[in-house]
Amino acid sequence: MSASNLKIENLHVSIEGKEIIKGLDLEINGGEIHAVMGPNGTGKSTLASAIMGHPKYEITEGTVTIDGKDLLEMEVDERAKAGLFLAMQYPSEVSGVTNADFLRTSINARREEGDEISLMKFIKKMDEKMAALGMGEEFSQRYLNEGFSGGEKKRNEILQLMMLEPKIAILDEIDSGLDIDALKVVSQGVNSMRSPEFGCLIITHYQRLLNYITPDKVHVIMQGRIVKSGGAELAQRLEAEGYDWIKEELGIEDETVGQEA
Ligand SMILES: Nc1ncnc2c1ncn2[C@@H]1O[C@H](COP(=O)(O)OP(=O)(O)OP(=O)(O)O)[C@@H](O)[C@H]1O
Ligand SMILES: [Mg+2]
Repeated sequence: MSASNLKIENLHVSIEGKEIIKGLDLEINGGEIHAVMGPNGTGKSTLASAIMGHPKYEITEGTVTIDGKDLLEMEVDERAKAGLFLAMQYPSEVSGVTNADFLRTSINARREEGDEISLMKFIKKMDEKMAALGMGEEFSQRYLNEGFSGGEKKRNEILQLMMLEPKIAILDEIDSGLDIDALKVVSQGVNSMRSPEFGCLIITHYQRLLNYITPDKVHVIMQGRIVKSGGAELAQRLEAEGYDWIKEELGIEDETVGQEA
């Protein structure tokens, strides 16, 4: 099996002509879990959407590769097929498509023709993963995210992660809105994915999540760039002291991506 690798070099991303990501470097290998932390409006979700290929986000400079292949040349479905997965900060509701149908279609879209997952195998796997996440059976037949509570949506994102088994996952605020028990369940789900073939980028505001999922590396994003990286202890210091010390250290006054045109 090939090792998983996501490599981002000097990435610049603009939205409607305004630059949001301004020269970002990051590399994730299989077996590693990285956390990206940073104040509001510094480009975290933009990074995630740009890597997934959201059409609104224009890459103006830099490269992104997955297992050495140019990701930016790929269509969105090709990126998923190459092993990329994104859990969004605000998952969309899709009426008329059941959770089970969505998952099965998504799995098969990532497989070669003729190699589709059998219905039996699919149901067994889905039952297993839903039980692990403490999700009631009814969630398989409910429409995708429709009327799901905030916490149910987050659990459902992790269900997708566990069903799709991507090589590289980007989880954007998977912990927001979770109660303490759900936080543990979701963390266990992510931890169960740990393997040399799986690399993960967790975007979070809270050290709390990282008590359950120990990151190998922690990065701080400001002004659309990674301005500081460290180990799990960096997240602990941020929790205790906030971001001001980094801003002082680096002479940053406004950490957001700026409002200039
Ligand atoms: N589709 C868009 N249209 C216009 N502006 C956008 C769009 N997406 C992002 N931006 C702007 O880019 C900046 C960075 O947004 P982003 O969502 O990446 O921040 P974030 O770091 O994820 O913040 P948070 O911690 O609040 O989730 C913000 O000023 C935001 O308004
Ligand atoms: Mg965000």
